[in-house]
Amino acid sequence: MAPAAPFNPPTSNLPGKPFVPDWIPPPVTKETHNFAQLKSIDLSLLDSEDPAVVDGLVQNVKKAIRDDGFLFLENYGVSLEQLHHQFALAQYLYNNISEEDKQRLLFDPETGAWSGYKHPYGFKRHRGPPDGIEQFNWYKPDWEDTEGRVPKCLHPFMDEIESFCNYLTQSVNRRLLTLLSRVLELPDDYLWDNVQSHGSPTGEGYFRHALFRPVQKSTEEASKGLRMHGHTDFGLTTLLFSVPISCLQIWGRDEQWYYVPYKPGALVVNIGDTLEIVSGGHFKATRHRVYKPPVDQRNEERLSLVLFNSSIGDLRMGPAKESPLIQREGCVNEQGVYKEFKDRTTEGKIVPTNKQWREIQIATATDPTDTVHNRVGVHQVVINGKLMHQREYMGVKVCLPV
Ligand SMILES: [Fe+2]
Repeated sequence: MAPAAPFNPPTSNLPGKPFVPDWIPPPVTKETHNFAQLKSIDLSLLDSEDPAVVDGLVQNVKKAIRDDGFLFLENYGVSLEQLHHQFALAQYLYNNISEEDKQRLLFDPETGAWSGYKHPYGFKRHRGPPDGIEQFNWYKPDWEDTEGRVPKCLHPFMDEIESFCNYLTQSVNRRLLTLLSRVLELPDDYLWDNVQSHGSPTGEGYFRHALFRPVQKSTEEASKGLRMHGHTDFGLTTLLFSVPISCLQIWGRDEQWYYVPYKPGALVVNIGDTLEIVSGGHFKATRHRVYKPPVDQRNEERLSLVLFNSSIGDLRMGPAKESPLIQREGCVNEQGVYKEFKDRTTEGKIVPTNKQWREIQIATATDPTDTVHNRVGVHQVVINGKLMHQREYMGVKVCLPV
């Protein structure tokens, strides 16, 4: 394969661009237990001229997603300095966004999209208990009308933010989907051509600047330390950048939550529901949550950048029957969303489209501070002694660890 071009963003110090203070990564925790051991994938090996090296890479990816449903990606083409500049832009947003823009661009999740500004009072448009989480999410309409739909303080930097997202989608995610297509023994562009949505820097997906501020005691008590419920992402892949403040946790094979360790510059890749279904359960959608950090980081702010890659909205997903891996080994039926979709299809019922699947979950999301719904008998059940969060969306049951 021709070597992938590295990220080459527009310059940040053009005349007329305001000065952006550096982002200084906060200190890493000294805590070491309850941290996951995750495999790291060197994406630059995909460019190797030695087929044995590329094959080794594909085998490593296969093992990592089967074992963990989660992986670190390194050497994907964005330098640490370039990445830290993108964090500096997110920091600049939260230091400079006006109250007027917060009102004007306030999100409306009941539409099925997070598009716009999320206030730090829960995941509904009306204000609930404080959760300390602010976000700005760019969807297709936001890229198309940055003047009208993006906070004014970021207007001078949209060239840099847009080129970053284009690189992540068109280069990093495309190469990642090549690797995943190869694991399924399908042509390199199978997932890119047939499943990934296109158009705008993020297709039907979205890009997020998020800021988690420390929470007050009443919030921590109501949520039992949770910042975001255990869940799986509904799309293809989610690209998160590893950050020093340890809040992201993944559900291990031994049915325990583990913090994801900090690896400077690395990308943390989640497998979404779409990939679990397309792969016939060979890939597991990553079960993850956001939880309070270790004690020595409780008073730190956590800045996070995330790109959510979404599948084509009109598709109703099923396993890629042309996959030689699926033909040879069959599907893996013990899994969550793949199994639910399969059971529904077997009963002759229709499964949601990708667009319906993501929109219903956004529109009906609840907060960890919601003590009315987060109770056994409402949104929680106990299965084999484990407390689970159980929801049903369009007839499809989703049961995830709390
Ligand atoms: Fe997520």
